[in-house]
This record gives sequence, structure tokens and C-alpha cells, in this order.
Amino acid sequence: MKTSEIRQKFLSFFESKGHHIVSSASLVPGNDPTLLFTNAGMVQFKDVFTGKETRPYNRATSSQRCVRAGGKHNDLENVGYTARHHTFFEMLGNFSFGDYFKQDAIRYAWELLTTVYQLPAEKLWVTVYQEDDEAYDIWASEIGVPKERIIRIGDKGGVRYNSDNFWQMADTGPCGPCSEIFYDHGADVWGGPPGSPEEDGDRYIEVWNLVFMQFERSADGSMTPLPKPCVDTGMGLERISAVLQHVHSNYEIDLFQSLIHAAARETKTNDLSNNSLKVIADHIRACSFLIIDGVIPSNEGRGYVLRRIIRRALRHGHKLGQKGLFFYRLVQDLGQAMGEAYPELIQQRERIEQVLRQEEERFSETLENGMRILEGALAALPASAKLDGQTLFTLYDTYGFPVDLTADICRERGIEVDLDGFEVAMENQRQMARASGKFKTAEGLSYSGVQTRFDGYTTLEGKGTVTALYVDGTSVQSVAQGQQAVVVLDATPFYAESGGQVGDAGILSGDNGLSFDVQDTQKISNQVFGHQGVLSAGTLSVGQTVQAQVDTERRDRVIRNHSATHLMHKALRQVLGSHVQQRGSLVDAEKTRFDFAHDAAMSAEQIAQVEAIVNDQVLANQAVQAQLMSFDDAVSGGAMALFGEKYGDEVRVLDIGFSRELCGGTHVQRTGDIGLFKIVSEGGVAAGVRRIEAITGINSLHWVQAQERLLNEASASLRTQPEGLAARISALQSQVKDLEREREQMQSKLAASAGQDLLAQAVPLNDSSRLLVATLQGVEAKALREMADQLKNKLQSAVILLSIVADGKVSLVAGVTPDLTSKVKAGDLVGFVASQMGGKGGGRPDMAMGGGNDASVLPQANASVQAWVESKLGA
Ligand code: ALA
Repeated sequence: MKTSEIRQKFLSFFESKGHHIVSSASLVPGNDPTLLFTNAGMVQFKDVFTGKETRPYNRATSSQRCVRAGGKHNDLENVGYTARHHTFFEMLGNFSFGDYFKQDAIRYAWELLTTVYQLPAEKLWVTVYQEDDEAYDIWASEIGVPKERIIRIGDKGGVRYNSDNFWQMADTGPCGPCSEIFYDHGADVWGGPPGSPEEDGDRYIEVWNLVFMQFERSADGSMTPLPKPCVDTGMGLERISAVLQHVHSNYEIDLFQSLIHAAARETKTNDLSNNSLKVIADHIRACSFLIIDGVIPSNEGRGYVLRRIIRRALRHGHKLGQKGLFFYRLVQDLGQAMGEAYPELIQQRERIEQVLRQEEERFSETLENGMRILEGALAALPASAKLDGQTLFTLYDTYGFPVDLTADICRERGIEVDLDGFEVAMENQRQMARASGKFKTAEGLSYSGVQTRFDGYTTLEGKGTVTALYVDGTSVQSVAQGQQAVVVLDATPFYAESGGQVGDAGILSGDNGLSFDVQDTQKISNQVFGHQGVLSAGTLSVGQTVQAQVDTERRDRVIRNHSATHLMHKALRQVLGSHVQQRGSLVDAEKTRFDFAHDAAMSAEQIAQVEAIVNDQVLANQAVQAQLMSFDDAVSGGAMALFGEKYGDEVRVLDIGFSRELCGGTHVQRTGDIGLFKIVSEGGVAAGVRRIEAITGINSLHWVQAQERLLNEASASLRTQPEGLAARISALQSQVKDLEREREQMQSKLAASAGQDLLAQAVPLNDSSRLLVATLQGVEAKALREMADQLKNKLQSAVILLSIVADGKVSLVAGVTPDLTSKVKAGDLVGFVASQMGGKGGGRPDMAMGGGNDASVLPQANASVQAWVESKLGA
């Protein structure tokens, strides 16, 4: 029986019993905030059960599409691991709204299974809720199921959603005890009947759940009886199809086989049993139906669940070696497999493909890189360690790996992930975002006045009229002395932060001693500038005219760094290659921080080259030119447009020395104004992204002076001049090496003479062998081994145990000559002695090492050796 026939027979059977056939509702439950997705057939009837809604029928049947991924009933993690879990499945159900109850529900189910579907009765087992004697009796007496195949299952305390024979849709809503019907797949499949320790095996599979709806659970946990008892049943179409098609896994039924073949075709996979194909076949169904029902991939809620499922499918494609796009192509195959029952799959095919394709393109850009990061992290992971939260977070934040995706990959390799650590990293980022948000107070203020005219390209002072004032984010008419405020002017020389260049600081002054200290300038909107700061004297009101004066010293430092950034960008492309692209920049009064795309660390030589090129440009002292032109003219004239920036039709083109870039920032007049350009650091910030920090002008002088100071201090302490420092250091290093060598020689001499003394301490064991047990002084642990070797040579046939004590800890070495190792093993001897001191040891039969913590027992332990060795030799 094909899946479509099984679905149809179910609906017709219940129609013949007076049920109204109702179409599947949307996967997105209408007006139900308690539920992420429709997860059961009863969802669309929820209000009918509780009496809030009435229908013209009191019996219904449906084949409902369901998603159990995210929310209370979540099977996403199981897909690909079991024979019967899906993110998307169809639930066949019959419902009674205050009409029939337990008896008819059970009778109908039995009749359908045994006569319509013709399942052998002896293959069926049932469970009932612990206290439900009524259901038990119906199964036992009326239906005649033998008692050994009726199992009572209790609600093990607490709310379970679909176990323990008490079913409920979500935290709140209709619920009640249930009775489940199981099919026995036969003794050749592992598993035990429900309630047995082996119940999780695949032998006894639940196919149908009959819920006797009796209560409504409220948010506080209390249960109110429903107006009338109802029935809600659910039978997974895929499961019953597996039973009726005599296959053991849902993935072997006709419908899935066609999808698995399609997935294999698209991923060029020969092994049809590969689990990744099952995952892809499952996920194309969930994704397509979610898109049909209006969900689109996003970063939250339902959209995020969809995104997670899509990305999980793509990752499995990647695992099968699929590098290009493939997933969206399966929509057509799905239409062939299920389009008859769900014509929307065919009608909306293009739209579904488009949404999937877009998401696929987006993720495939980062999937490969993310996998590389993850493989690297996993390879570096010590055995049995968890994958750390920061890596989980980086994968999530930078590479778009939902955390369950990373967990899924780790699970395949038996590695756990640190979810708590992930939460911590996530929270840190939230806090950082909040903290940096504090300084951008101008953003989001509502403003309806005139735009701000920016005069700051040509002048650093000028008059402006106050068009708006804000205190604590609220628009005000005037500001009092001491208040923090945002001031908007109709014209200003103050540059507002953009394009990486920080906003200007300075002073607004006016009549009656008015003085407003501007600490930062931020855009409220593209053409409206907010001067942020504090009113240090006087009062300030809307409509007043003020004199604006930019902090010129600070502005000068900023523009030196900004102009230098353009020169550096060009120089980097010359030295490293034209793949260098700006990925972010911050230009302030201290430095320029420049992030760019490049794969490897720069060598010292490359850094010096970039510095030399930029400084050549500085010394050429050319005038900087800015001109407005159309974007197209600018680009065809060779101007560099920055990656990810938005430009208007008219753009400002900056020629600084050999560089031509589009830029709205402020710059020096001649390149010579930049002063000395110096790179002070270079490092990686993310995969394929490097960061340079560089300084200019007076900051370079300060930096050079600080370096010089360090050099002078170092040379002074080595009593030389900076020029002699390198020679002095290498002389000192070779001196240290010589001393080290001498010390080692002394050590061995000492050990040799100690060895001579030791020989005398050896005691006879039998005719020809000797035992030497000694605790030494003034010898280092690493010399012990060599001494034991030497003593073995000298004594020829002996058992040796040497020890030293350092910092209260004992180090032990045992040596046994080859003629004795068959009876006395050095490893055993060390173990025997060390264990008396709370320690351990081991090694080869002829040489072993160990240690202990309790040095006070050493004499006693030494004394025990002779008897132990003799017993071994005697044996
Ligand atoms: N609503 C019940 C279930 O989902 C039938 O199992």
C-alpha cells in the first residue's frame, strides 16, 4: 500500500463513521502564541475542545502536516540518528468534540488497523494510563487483547509532553490521559515492549496515540475539566506506512525512498544508506512546507528554526562532499512525491526554490570557512574535553553556525559542547553592544527640523543656530547648566562620526557666557548632526545662535591618521596584492586601526616596505585634492570604492598622493602634514582578516622616544651603548651556555664519585647478585637514571633502587640487570615502593621511574625492598 493510499484509506474510514474530513491547517498556528508550530492534528481544534469555538460537526478527521523542531515537541536533534524521527511529518487523526469517548475511539482504532489495514492482531500491543481502568477494561474485555500485551504506564511526576501516557500540546491547553498502540516489528529487531528497560529499541514502535481529552491546563499548572470529554488521536503517517510496507525504518517507505534517491543524485552519493541523505530528505520536507506556510529564514523565532533546519541540511550536503548549491533542486522532487496531496508544493515551487536558494548561497559562503575553524578547534582539543563556548560563539556569530549545528557535528565525533560557556560569550557580546551603544546617544532621536550644513571641510569655526536640543533622549526647549545634552545646529564645522573617522570635539559658545563642551559628534540621521556634551556655563535654548569651535589640535591628529590610512591602503595593495580590501577602520586622534582581507601574517620586511612607501608619499608633500563627481565617473577614474559602503549618486573623490578613494572624511592639505608614519602592530582578528595599527605626527615622535628610552634602559643595565647591545646580549648568551655545560660536567663527576661510594653499600642477594637501595643527596632527579645505568654496569647482576627527596616529594628510579628481569621487574619494584608513599610509577622491566608524596615513609619503604626482592627471586 502506497503512502498516499494509506492516507486516503484512513480518511475514508472515518468519513464512513460520520466524521467530517478537514484539510490540514497551516504549520503556523493561527493566533496561538503558546505554540511555535502545529505539532499535532488537534492544534486546529484546540478551541473546539475547550468550548471556545463551535463547529457544524462534532466528529472530524484529518491528515495534518506537523513540524516538531523547536518548541516543546522537538525532534530536530534525533533526525538522522533514529529510524522514526522527523522534523516534518503527517499526523492522521480522528476527533470527537464531546461526542464519542474512550469506547468508540478504541473500537474504531482497532477496526481500522485489523480490518482495513489488515494488521495481525497478535503484533499489536497497547498501553493505558496507570489509573485508567476504564480503558484497560475496554482493551481487555471488549477488544480481547491478551492481558500480557496491555501495559499500564504511569505519569512519573511532573508534566511530560508525550510520554507516560498523559498528553498535552504545550505548557497550556487541552490535555488528558492516553492509550497508545504499538506494533511489534519482530524478534530480529532489538528492543523491548513499552515500559521495559529496552523500550527505546526499534522493535516495538508506537503507531497511534489515542488521547482522552478531559482537562485544560492553565499557565499556573492547574487543570480544569473540559465542558465535555473529547477524543484526539494521532497516527504518524510515515510510521504506519513503514509497518504496512513491511520495512523497519520510516526512511524506507516509498515517499522517502524517492527523496533519498533525489538527494543522492544531487549530492552524487552512491551509498544510499548514508544517514546524511535521510537528514536531507527529511529537511527538504520541513523547509518546503514551512516556506509554503509563510515562514522565511531569519534570526529569530520561527524563521530561525527554519534557518537552522536549512543549515543542518546544507551541512550534511557538505559532509557528502557537495560544494555547490543542491538543496533547492529537491523541491521539484518533493512536488512529485507529495504534490498530489499538497498541490501548493507545485503551485509555489518557484517561490520555495528561491527562498531556499538564497539561503543556500548565503550560507555556503561561510560554511566552508566555519568547518575549517571547527576542524582546527576539534583537532586541538585534548581527549575528553568539551568544545569551548567561545568557539561555539565564534562559529555562531561569524560563520552562522547555529549552536545545535555545531553540537550535531561534535556529537558525530563523540565530543560534548560547552553550552554554558556559549551563553556566557553571548551575554558578553550583548553587554559590549549595550556599552558601545551608550556613546551613540544621538542615534534614534526623532528630529523634524532642517538638515545640518557641514562646513568643516574648509573651516573649523563658524556660526550656527540651535534647531533642536535633547536631554536623556527627549526633545527639550532649553538646557540648564551642568546638563548632558545633544545639540543640533543648522550649520556646523564639527565632523560627525562616519566612514571610520571619529566625531569632532570642541566648544559651542555664545551670549551670557554660554559654553557647551562638545565631547563627540554623532549623526542623528544622514544629514543631521548631534553635538554631544555638557553645558558648562550659561543657558542654551532652541533658536539661539552659537559660535562653534572645533578642537583643532584633536582634529589635526585625526586627519593625519585618516589621510595616512588612504596611503597605507594603497601601499598594502602594492606590497601584498590587490586582494587587500578594507574590512573596517577606526581613525581617531591616537591612531588608525585598519582591518583588511589578507590570509597570512605580514613579515617584518613587508611592514617596513609599507612604511617606506607611505613615508615617501608623505615626503613628496603633494596637495590633497577633493572633488565631487558621479559615482560612475569616480570608479572609471580609478577611485577605490570601499567594500560594503553605500554611496550616493554624487561622491567625493579624494586624491592623496598616489591614492584615489571615495571618502566623505576630512583630510590634511598636503601629504607632508602627516609627519612620520609608523606601523606599531600587525595581527589577525578573524579568519582571513588582519589588523594594523599605525600612528602619525607627534604620536610617532612619542612612540620613537618611548622605544629609545627602553633601549637606553636596556643598554644601561648591560653597561653598554645601544649600538653594542646586540653583541653584548650574544656574548652573555654564550657565557650562559658555557656555564650550563660546566655545571652539567660537574654534576656527572659528582654522580660518578657518589656512585663509587654507593657500590660499597650494595648487599649480596644470593651467590652472584647484589641489591643496592640508596637515598641520595645533592643529586638532581634527571641524573638518577644515568646513575642507575652506571651502577648496573658496575654491579653486573643487581637490583637497584635509588631515590632523592626534593620539596618533600620523593623521586625514584629502579634498575634491574637483564639476567634478573624475568623475576624482578623494575616497574613492579617502583610501583611497590611508590605505593607505600601514596605515589605511583612504572616503566620497562630493566628501568623504571616513579615518585611519592610522603617522604617520611621513605626509610621504611627502602627497608621493605630486600624482603620483596628476595621473595621474587625465590619464587
Ligand atoms: N495529539 C496526540 C499526539 O500528538 C494525538 O500524539
